[in-house]
Parts: sequence; structure tokens; C-alpha cells
Amino acid sequence: MPAFHLREAPPGAAAWVYDALHDLEVANTTELMGEDLAIAAEWNRNNHADERTAIKGLLVALPGPAPEPAAVGRFGLPEVPAEPSPILGTIEFSLPLADNRHLADDTYCQVDAGARRQGIGTALWEEAVRIAVQHDRDTIVAWSDHFVGLPADGPRLRARDGDDELPRDRASEFALSLGLSLAQVERQSRLPLPVPPERLAALRAEAEERALPAYRIESWVGNTPPEHLDRLAAMYRTLSSDAPLGEVDWEPENWDAERVRHNDERKHRTGHSLFTIAIARETGEVAGLTELHVHDAHPHRPEQWTTVVAAPHRGHRLGLLLKAANLQALAVDQPEARYVDTWNAGENDHMLAINTLVGFRPHSAHGAWQWKAPQA
Ligand SMILES: CC(C)(COP(=O)(O)OP(=O)(O)OC[C@H]1O[C@@H](n2cnc3c(N)ncnc32)[C@H](O)[C@@H]1OP(=O)(O)O)[C@@H](O)C(=O)NCCC(=O)NCCS
Repeated sequence: MPAFHLREAPPGAAAWVYDALHDLEVANTTELMGEDLAIAAEWNRNNHADERTAIKGLLVALPGPAPEPAAVGRFGLPEVPAEPSPILGTIEFSLPLADNRHLADDTYCQVDAGARRQGIGTALWEEAVRIAVQHDRDTIVAWSDHFVGLPADGPRLRARDGDDELPRDRASEFALSLGLSLAQVERQSRLPLPVPPERLAALRAEAEERALPAYRIESWVGNTPPEHLDRLAAMYRTLSSDAPLGEVDWEPENWDAERVRHNDERKHRTGHSLFTIAIARETGEVAGLTELHVHDAHPHRPEQWTTVVAAPHRGHRLGLLLKAANLQALAVDQPEARYVDTWNAGENDHMLAINTLVGFRPHSAHGAWQWKAPQA
């Protein structure tokens, strides 16, 4: 009798599915990193329910043989049952609709510690490949997480760009066993809080000396004011094309004011963002953006998201100014927060230099792995 079978969870599936996914994330991040780095079941539910710019896939492995007969979902698998069941493993992915229609993106596979080395991860992956190909995607981007706290012994892996490395641990061995290639190594860095206020003020003053009076900055918490929606769309577009991409086949994203508004609305259902932008005084043009996000479920560890300065405006210390100003806003908004986590390409020297100056230190590593459809 088969030990497991696969099912799909449609958007808005029964609540137990998102609780079980969250439990798996808590167990796996705690096992790997020694700390719970999961976000929240509600965040998972919201993420998978929002298909405005991408179809969201969530496949699960359940114990025992497949039910007979069962309602088949949009990906051709039986749907998850209404009643809770233990989950042995999951794979998540998104099929972008607004841009990058060649991709299955954000693919992440995890298997319960008690169910590994039984082919569950491979079976989930093979279904994700089948679905991607059926949706005319010829490239899949998948992620892996790695602990970097131990001395760097044993074999390591490098991507084409940058000096950051991944250990050859179970996640990279799994990805290699699937025939994936390592397209980029991403570094997670952590900033302990509070940053002494006088240090933040000094960093800000240092940046202002170069950036003022040509630029002014504006900060807000929560939904983007209508007059800035187009500016944020321009910045998200710029980030998608200008951040180092390694060998990942991402194409520039299509952003407009409506997508920003919708994105804000989704993010603010389970947390809130603090934004700071720079505007060129002479033209009114947006020059840079940075965003910190606070999840309701764990306000002690805000996340540093998007930071971007548009090419014509680089070299004026705007990156540092934006970050220092936004961290000052965070100190008022979340005085109890203990640290900020951020993720950057290992080869993104300019961004990493600013982060180091602010006080971020390397914490973990992530692999961006790529699968390409065999040429017809
Ligand atoms: C990585 C993970 C998803 C693998 O799931 P799994 O169900 O155990 O994978 P499979 O049984 O299909 O293994 C397929 C192959 O991957 C390789 N592999 C998997 N785990 C390995 C390990 N611990 N050590 C060495 N190779 C390993 C092997 O080649 C294996 O084939 P084999 O068992 O015939 O030797 C699972 O360990 C996990 O959930 N880890 C935590 C989350 C994570 O790191 N996800 C990122 C995935 S890129």
C-alpha cells in the first residue's frame, strides 16, 4: 500500500491546511536555525488566496493511498479533505500572470522530519514540474535555506556571481538530486535592536550632508497615500530590473498604481509596512524607496524589504539616508522590536556595504535554484 499520496489545496482551502503548513514551517526552521522563523498561518492563508498577479499552488503529501473516488482540483489532483489530516510534506509555487509568464516562481518544498528519504520531496517536485509545464512555464525557481553558524568545513557550493557559499547539506543535496542548478546565493543579515538613537542620527546626518537639499524624504506607515502610488510602482519596477539577478531568469515586473494599492491592502491584512521615499526636489521624480514590514504575529522581528535607488540618483547617499530615516520611524512604531532581518543577493556589494554600516551582520544563507525545461 502506498505510504503517501498527493493532493492540492485550492485558494481558500480549509483552515487546518494553513495551520499544518505553518506547523511544518515552525518545526523545520527551528530544526535548521534553532529558532522559529515562520510567519503565521493567517499569512499563508492570505498569500495563497490572493491570485491577482499569480496563480498560487500548494500541494500536500498525506499519509496512505489516494481516496477513491475524489473530486479532482484545477491541477488534476484530488483536493485536500475538509477534515484535518497529518501532513507529511508540502510544495508551494506561484505562476506569475502580470509578467514573467515563463516562470514557476517562489517554489519551496518541505518534508516533515519523520517522513524524509522516502521520495516525498521528489514526488512533490515532480508534480510541480508537471503543473508548471502544463501552464507553459519553461523555468522553475526554487529556494533553499541554510544554517551558516558553524565553521565552514566540508564541501561548499558557489553560484556564478559573488563570494557567498552554501553548505552541501540536505537541502542542497536534494536540489542537486533533482538536477537543479544554483543560480544565486542570497544572504540573510540581522540587525540587533535598538540601534542607539545617536548612532542612527549620526548616520542620517552623514547621508544628509550629501543628499540635501537636492532631495526631500517622506515617510508613512500603512497604505501608500494616493499621490505616491505611481512613485512606488516605478520603484518596484526598478528593483525588479536593477537588483543583481545572478543567473536567475527573472524578467522586469509590471507595476502600476493599482497593483501597489492591492499589494498594500494584502500586506496590511496581517501586518503593516513603514515606507520612506526620496523625491528629487527639482523634478518631483521619485529617487528611492525603502520598506520595513512588521508582521502582527511577531512584531519583535520586523523585516527589511525593498530598498532601491534609481540609477540617475545613485551616489548621493540616498540608500543610507532612506534606511536611517526608516529605522528611526521603526524605533517610534515598534520600540520593543529586538532585531530586523533582511535578504540580499550575496554579490550586491553596494547594498551589503550600507547594511554593514548600519549594523547588519550575516545570519543565514539561501539558494535560488533553477530548473530549465529540456529543449524540445
Ligand atoms: C530537503 C527535503 C525537502 C527533502 O525531502 P525528502 O522527502 O527527504 O527528499 P527525497 O526522499 O525525495 O530525496 C531525494 C534525494 O535528495 C537527496 N537527499 C535528500 N535528503 C538528503 C540528506 N539528508 N542527505 C543527503 N542527500 C539527501 C538524496 O539524493 C535523495 O535520494 P536518495 O534518498 O535516494 O538518496 C527535506 O529534507 C526537508 O524538508 N528539509 C527542510 C526544508 C528544506 O530545506 N527545503 C528546501 C528544499 S530545496
